[in-house]
Amino acid sequence: MGGSGLLWIGRALVLLQLVNGVLGWGKEGHYAICKIAEGYLTKDALAAVKELLPDSAEGDLANVCSWPDEIRHYYHWRWSSPLHYVDTPDFKCNYDYCRDCHDSAGHKDRCVTGAIYNYSMQLSAYQDSVSDVKYNLTEALMFLSHFIGDVHQPLHVGFTGDEGGNTIIVRWFRRKTNLHHVWDTMIIDSALKTFYGSDLTVMIQSIQKNITDGWANDISSWESCRYNLTICPNGYASESVCLACKFAYRNATPGTTLGDDYFLSRLPVVEKRLAQSGIRLAATLNRIFASQIKIAEA
Ligand SMILES: *[C@@H]1O[C@H](CO)[C@@H](O)[C@H](O)[C@H]1NC(C)=O
Ligand SMILES: *[C@@H]1O[C@H](CO)[C@@H](O)[C@H](O)[C@H]1NC(C)=O
Ligand SMILES: *[C@@H]1O[C@H](CO)[C@@H](O)[C@H](O)[C@H]1NC(C)=O
Ligand SMILES: *[C@@H]1O[C@H](CO)[C@@H](O)[C@H](O)[C@H]1NC(C)=O
Ligand SMILES: [Zn+2]
Repeated sequence: MGGSGLLWIGRALVLLQLVNGVLGWGKEGHYAICKIAEGYLTKDALAAVKELLPDSAEGDLANVCSWPDEIRHYYHWRWSSPLHYVDTPDFKCNYDYCRDCHDSAGHKDRCVTGAIYNYSMQLSAYQDSVSDVKYNLTEALMFLSHFIGDVHQPLHVGFTGDEGGNTIIVRWFRRKTNLHHVWDTMIIDSALKTFYGSDLTVMIQSIQKNITDGWANDISSWESCRYNLTICPNGYASESVCLACKFAYRNATPGTTLGDDYFLSRLPVVEKRLAQSGIRLAATLNRIFASQIKIAEA
């Protein structure tokens, strides 16, 4: 047994995680996004992140980027559940903060873009003296890192009527599931098995390679916000709902079996969204933790 036994246990754990990853991009998606982001953090941002990370992260942001999904169903955290997504009017294929950012009871700002503003604002108090900090910035960092990922998942900005694809029952190859779950987890899961030897590290490396090669000229436009704003989640949400209409909902009506055609044409969209989330998470954290220093020096 020895080595191969351990390897087998490792595989079984990976499989278990794949089965368990249910909400928002799955565990793998969020891990990949934060891993990519880590490579683009400035020295100041990295220092702030390291200081804020909980012990359970073991110094690695990627290890806690699924935390908001893990806690959202506990009673104490149930209020955070609507913060993972924003629903938009059926078949409109556009997004508007004032119209769309509310929970199902109509409470304003309770949606993923509202939460990104909220937790960015909290983190911008990082340099203030501890007594002025009202919020738990460890939580703010984990929420922000997670939600910048979620807002890039096209069906997290899907239609109200089908709950972002959650009520659209389809088959993914032979397995019965829903369209939302296909985009959170199944496309990534199938890509891992088919193209990356079930090794998430290999998948992340090949996305990183595209960032430095094919997409190199796009990076600065991904990073920047209009009017030099520090954060710009509304633009990401608008992109997502366009992608939802163009790729996620198309040819995926209830009862459809999704197979190779759908998988192979949608995978590049998913991989690019993971890349964009990672780059934008890093750019956002860099700006949040840099503007601090400037204010402090002024
Ligand atoms: C903002 O963050 C606080 C602390 O986590 C939370 O209580 C509040 O519900 C959040 N609001 C939004 C809109 O994210
Ligand atoms: C901040 O939040 C983390 C995660 O929920 C928790 O472990 C920690 O105890 C909190 N810190 C404070 C000072 O409440
Ligand atoms: C890399 O970019 C190429 C060309 O755009 C694309 O076909 C491929 O799917 C991308 N791979 C990854 C891992 O992003
Ligand atoms: C944004 O910032 C850059 C660099 O600081 C500056 O060159 C540019 O003029 C700014 N653009 C706007 C619209 O303020
Ligand atoms: Zn989520």
